[in-house]
Amino acid sequence: MSTSQTVLEQQLEYMQKVKALVGVLYGQPKACVNTFGCQQNVSDSEHIKGMLEAMGYTLTDEMDDADFVLFNTCAVREHAQDRVYGNIGITKQLKKARSNMVIAVCGCMAQQQYVADRIKKSYPYVDILFGTHVTHKLPEFLYKRLNGSPRIFDISAQNNEIIEGIPVHRDKSVKGWLPIMYGCNNFCTYCVVPYVRGRERSRTSAEIIKEAKIMIESGVRDITLLGQNVNSYGKGLDEDINFAKLLRRLNDLPGEFRLRFMTSHPKDCTKELLDTMTECEKVAHHLHLPVQCGNDRVLKEMNRHYDRDTYLSLIDYAKERMPDLALTSDIIVGFPGETYDEFCDTLSLIKEVEYNSLFTFIYSPRPGTPAAELPDPISRAEKGKWFSELLAVQDQIGKRKEKELLGKTFRVLCEEKAERDGYIIGRTNGTAVIEFEGDDALIGTFADVQVTDINNAPTGVLIKEK
Ligand code: 5AD
Ligand code: SF4
Repeated sequence: MSTSQTVLEQQLEYMQKVKALVGVLYGQPKACVNTFGCQQNVSDSEHIKGMLEAMGYTLTDEMDDADFVLFNTCAVREHAQDRVYGNIGITKQLKKARSNMVIAVCGCMAQQQYVADRIKKSYPYVDILFGTHVTHKLPEFLYKRLNGSPRIFDISAQNNEIIEGIPVHRDKSVKGWLPIMYGCNNFCTYCVVPYVRGRERSRTSAEIIKEAKIMIESGVRDITLLGQNVNSYGKGLDEDINFAKLLRRLNDLPGEFRLRFMTSHPKDCTKELLDTMTECEKVAHHLHLPVQCGNDRVLKEMNRHYDRDTYLSLIDYAKERMPDLALTSDIIVGFPGETYDEFCDTLSLIKEVEYNSLFTFIYSPRPGTPAAELPDPISRAEKGKWFSELLAVQDQIGKRKEKELLGKTFRVLCEEKAERDGYIIGRTNGTAVIEFEGDDALIGTFADVQVTDINNAPTGVLIKEK
């Protein structure tokens, strides 16, 4: 048996033991999982919820109704961390009212030693803290703590093996996350992820395909492949595979569904990948290609390994191959030492590319990263002004792109009910979301919708099949 299987079996045994224990302790135990940060965390939380269900818990969104409260945290910006501290603080009172309540903190923020130290010292009501490398050991931690063990703090990073077979509770039925790799090797100078998530490691294509088939059979119609840098998928595996080949294999699976992926690093985004997107009919025409900034000096300081021209020529090629391509990106404003003139290069780049939407961030120094050591003379207030300027420019671009939808017909995946009674939310093969009048029975199917109005949000009508 491989070590991964042994580890899984141990944890499955702990799940049974916890189930017996919590049945006696709480009767019908409830768990509340609070997730912060990116889709990788959302996916990890789906596995945490899967384990909790296997341990006999039912899930609740209300912390004050729960016997087990967990915070799956994000470390990418200071603001995200501060929010978590605030939320953990709330549980102090809750625990006073429910003395058997167990509180746990995990994820990227917990993986950092200084955070673990602070929580140990200043949040004595936190029972369990564990890092990103040992998420699968939650059943063991819970069992030990419920049996009277002292508070548990485990941020060990000794093992980079992927543990397959952890139960999963999928939050949504029509859309689903499918992790294909973990970790990051890129060490962009502003980013804490490589420190808290460890080195890149890929799941085998057999495991990924097995999971994709299960998802499709259970009704998932929009699968997003997840990784910090999906373009380096396959490195280190004993099989002849890369990301483009994986996409082709998934595209060959039977059924009508869509494949998306995030995130792609521009330095590893190849023409082969863009050609594959063009040729595979199930791969959505959406490329999330974070540029971070538009100035070559700053890109170099960020350790991004591409320059503005290379990035723009990739975008040109992608647009040429897929004229209907939706483009999105991440932007950091106010990297240490960035000048206003350099920031203007970011503005001109986004005008040139015309992204459908952007994820925009003001630079946040992360302890332990090289950029946090650089002089940073521009004030937060000044960076805030640049940030607003960026949002205003993108707002105009976004509105212009939305206008282009008017009158056109799109094949949309009917994802869920809209807030408006009798309306459904559909997503195009790109990123546009169209609301239209339709029956709930459409959810989980594909339909053709013509956009008739874009005044508030894009609204359309269902084109009836002949
Ligand atoms: N400050 C601001 N934004 C950051 N990101 C990563 N690290 C930082 C930081 N220190 C942004 C990048 C990345 C996205 C996930 O978060 O744009 O692509
Ligand atoms: Fe962070 Fe860069 Fe890795 Fe993305 S590629 S997770 S920005 S280090």
